[in-house]
Amino acid sequence: MKRDVISMLDVKEDLNEILELASEIKKRQKSGEIYEPLKNKTLGMIFEKPSTRTRISFEVGMTQLGGHAIYLSPKDMQMGRGETIADTARVLSRYVDGIMYRAFSHDVMLELAKNATVPVINGLDDVEHPTQILADLLTIKEHKGHFKGLKFVYVGDGNNVANSLALGAAMVGMDFYIACPEGYEPNAYLWEKAGKIAAENGSAMEIIRDPHEAVKDADVIYTDVAVSMGQEAEAEVKERIFRKYQVNEKLVGNAKPDYIFMHCLPAHRGHEVTDGVVDSPNSAVFDEAENRLHAQKGLMVKLMK
Ligand code: CP
Ligand code: NVA
Repeated sequence: MKRDVISMLDVKEDLNEILELASEIKKRQKSGEIYEPLKNKTLGMIFEKPSTRTRISFEVGMTQLGGHAIYLSPKDMQMGRGETIADTARVLSRYVDGIMYRAFSHDVMLELAKNATVPVINGLDDVEHPTQILADLLTIKEHKGHFKGLKFVYVGDGNNVANSLALGAAMVGMDFYIACPEGYEPNAYLWEKAGKIAAENGSAMEIIRDPHEAVKDADVIYTDVAVSMGQEAEAEVKERIFRKYQVNEKLVGNAKPDYIFMHCLPAHRGHEVTDGVVDSPNSAVFDEAENRLHAQKGLMVKLMK
């Protein structure tokens, strides 16, 4: 049976195992060891939106694991001329050993996964960004050594990244707080799911309106852009609403002195975060970006070996 990872919920049972495998693969890589468990395997990567980290880390990851990745843009494929996503999934499955898909719509993501006979990995859609969160958790583990009892505060839009983070934090037992304006909360269905998992693990989950109150004694402060890809029409309104939620030097002054700052990147410097925060010694953003590579290698070995 093929296994897809469309949501963080799809890694609930073996999240720690995946993170451990990622750490082990990272160590092998750093020591110069050649490790090619995916020799002769191919990953097809469909991108409906731009990408720097996701594209490069998956492609390099496949190369390092002995395999190959193909970048596919819908506008260069027959998808752009109306071939259905279901047929695209069926055809790709006859050639490749796994599909990574960055999509506008979660429903189309599910349609692709339903019709593919090889594993499908969500490389971001409008609801979740699970591979980002695998890298984020690996980064927190490396910087803090543990998860339980950490105060994780997400400041900003309750978007795809926030949804997956709430689930991931609940699974590893971190206390998760989100500071967001009314109307910009995480997806209600996933928030409830995360709440149940957090309750099982004895961790907290709360929506707080005031970012200053939320970040008090935080171990981790995380933010993302206010305007996600595809939301360009809402840009003016959102930029205005989220101005109060900027992660700046004054705001992070309320966190623990050894807090770490995280951002999935790309950052809109001067908007959701200031240069002073992204470039501070507390910032872990480039470790986080690097860990996309190691975390996804762990995931691909799990799904495609
Ligand atoms: N964080 C992230 O997914 O970055 P890209 O859009 O560059 O892939
Ligand atoms: N929330 C952002 C994340 C980018 C990696 C977006 O969807 O554009």
